[in-house]
Amino acid sequence: MNMNPTIRIEDIMQCVRPHLRGLQPYSSARDEFSGQAHIYLDANENPFGSPLLSVSVYNRYPDPHQQSLKERLAKLKGVAPGQIFLGNGSDEAIDLLIRAFCEPAQDRILITPPTYGMYEVSAAIHNVGVLKVPLLPEVFQLNTAEIIAQSRQAKLIWLCSPNNPTGNLLRREDIHAILTQVHCPVVVDEAYIDFSEDEGWLPHLEHYPNLIVLQTFSKAWGLAGLRLGVAYAHPQIIHLLDKIKPPYNINAYTQKMALQALDQRRQVALWIENTRRERQALSQALTNLPFVEKVFPSDANFILVRMQQASAIYRYLITCGIIVRDRSRVVLCDNCLRITVGKPEENRQLLNALREWQKNG
Ligand SMILES: Cc1ncc(COP(=O)(O)O)c(C=O)c1O
Repeated sequence: MNMNPTIRIEDIMQCVRPHLRGLQPYSSARDEFSGQAHIYLDANENPFGSPLLSVSVYNRYPDPHQQSLKERLAKLKGVAPGQIFLGNGSDEAIDLLIRAFCEPAQDRILITPPTYGMYEVSAAIHNVGVLKVPLLPEVFQLNTAEIIAQSRQAKLIWLCSPNNPTGNLLRREDIHAILTQVHCPVVVDEAYIDFSEDEGWLPHLEHYPNLIVLQTFSKAWGLAGLRLGVAYAHPQIIHLLDKIKPPYNINAYTQKMALQALDQRRQVALWIENTRRERQALSQALTNLPFVEKVFPSDANFILVRMQQASAIYRYLITCGIIVRDRSRVVLCDNCLRITVGKPEENRQLLNALREWQKNG
């Protein structure tokens, strides 16, 4: 069911840069022959193997369409494989979405600061303008009416929920209002959704032809080093991203390891549970420190904390060998540090260091 009968996927595809609509994508050797054979002389690979003797498969190009991985992920997430795009990190999906919808030196994206920095950087790389509708101060929720009003001038809207660096979920009714009242694609970046009790937007993908959900294997799944991000959207949007991606954007090792990781859901669930418990305990302990002014509620694996002398504390923590993120120069985040929830022992050491600061300060 389309929750926004006034907007159809055909309208959204009209937002695609005109020269890409008829683009003939690169056709790789594996596009032209995808069955089984015993002699492969079609891709100019090294037939002798790779110097990594124990793993000879790496002399061959990986599956450009990542079929096995998409099928597994589709089952897990309750979507069709055709609704999945896999990127070299979600950062690749962010880049490709801007490439797909925004004409350089002409179009603009809309972002809601403070938020993840790559939306703006990717736009700048492509010489695409950025409209900013800041979140509401202190509650960090969307200024929905203003976003809808300004959406006429935007080709893509970026929402991040739970938001980085503030940690909060964006209100469901606000995102629904935006999805149903704008006429451009809306990206909901759910890099941190696994740490929340909220189901996120994936179960509702079918209802909104303009919705693109981003998720990643870099956070709860613990695979930041493999670089694997996911965009879920209408098959026509996914087809577009597939057309403009580099042919072999997900390497063979990443595809293989991600498949193995998908068998370890219990382990991941335990880490998530642990992180939520630690988040609660750390938030409480931080609240009790006299120099801490505000601990913002978090649905992510980090906590935004406002404190007196945040930048000085940031530098002091470095001398203790503890690195957090100084966000105090970010809009609406003055005097704020963003602290990742660590292992219990790491959190204990952080709190000890902060108590020491208090004693000496
Ligand atoms: C909100 C958000 N989106 C996307 C990313 C990038 O994720 P990936 O590692 O998949 O490129 C990050 C990384 O910190 C993030 O905070």
